[in-house]
Amino acid sequence: MAKLCVNVDHVATLRQARGVDYPDPLEAALLSEAAGCVGITVHLREDRRHIQEGDVARIKKRISTKLNLEMAAAPEIVEIALKTHPWQVTFVPERRLEVTTEGGLNLTRGQRKTGAIIEWFKAKNILVSLFIDPDEESTRTAADLGADAVEYNTGRYCLARHGREQTTELKKIRAMCRLAGGLGLVTHAGHGLNLSNVAPIAAIEEIDELNIGHAIVARAVMVGFNQAVVEMIETIENAKG
Ligand code: PXP
Repeated sequence: MAKLCVNVDHVATLRQARGVDYPDPLEAALLSEAAGCVGITVHLREDRRHIQEGDVARIKKRISTKLNLEMAAAPEIVEIALKTHPWQVTFVPERRLEVTTEGGLNLTRGQRKTGAIIEWFKAKNILVSLFIDPDEESTRTAADLGADAVEYNTGRYCLARHGREQTTELKKIRAMCRLAGGLGLVTHAGHGLNLSNVAPIAAIEEIDELNIGHAIVARAVMVGFNQAVVEMIETIENAKG
C-alpha cells in the first residue's frame, strides 16, 4: 500500500513571505510524523524561495522518519546534499520563473553527467529517485542510469479537466508503474495530489510512496496539521483499485 511523505515546503513559503522565523517547517514535520506519515520531503531550491539550508539540517537532525530531499542537480545543491546525507534525494528540474515544478526531468540530455552524480549519492548510501513524466523512454533511461526509484509526475493527471483526459493520464501512470516495477525501480508519485484526486493513484499496486505538500499545508491552515495528515492517510489507505 502507498505510504505518505509530507512535503513541508509551503510552511516555509508562509514564513518567507514575512521574513520572520515562523511558522517553522520543522514543527510541521514533527506534527506530520506524529500523525503517521512515513517521511518528510523538502525541496531546497536554488533561489531559496521557501526551504533554507538551515531548515534541511534541522529537519534531518530532529525527525525520526526518512528525509527525502528534492533538488536540482546543480553543483552547490549537490554539495549540500552530500554533506547533509538525507535518506533519499529526488532530482527534479528547476526553472527560476516557474511557480512550482512544471514537469519531469529530461533524461535524454547529459546522461553521462547525471549517471556520475547518481553514483556519488549511491556511494554514500543515499537513495536516488528521479522525478519523471510517466513515459517509457524516461522510465527505461532512469533504470539504465542506475536510479533506485522514480517518482512519476502526477501533475497532468491532477490538472486534467475532463474525466476522459484524467483516465488517459491515469492509465499512463499505471502502465509505467508496472514497467518500472519490472525494471527493478521503486515507484513513487506526486505533484498536485489532494483529497479529491489521490485515491486512484494510491490504488496503484506498485506505488510505494506519495509525496504530497500543497494540499496538506492548505488543509492544515484550516484544521491543523494532525487532522490534515490523518485525513490524507485515511484517504490513501481506503483507496481501491
Ligand atoms: N514531488 C515533487 C518532485 C515535487 O517537486 C513536488 C512539489 O515540490 C511535490 C511532489 C509535491 O507537490 P504538491 O505540493 O503539489 O503536493
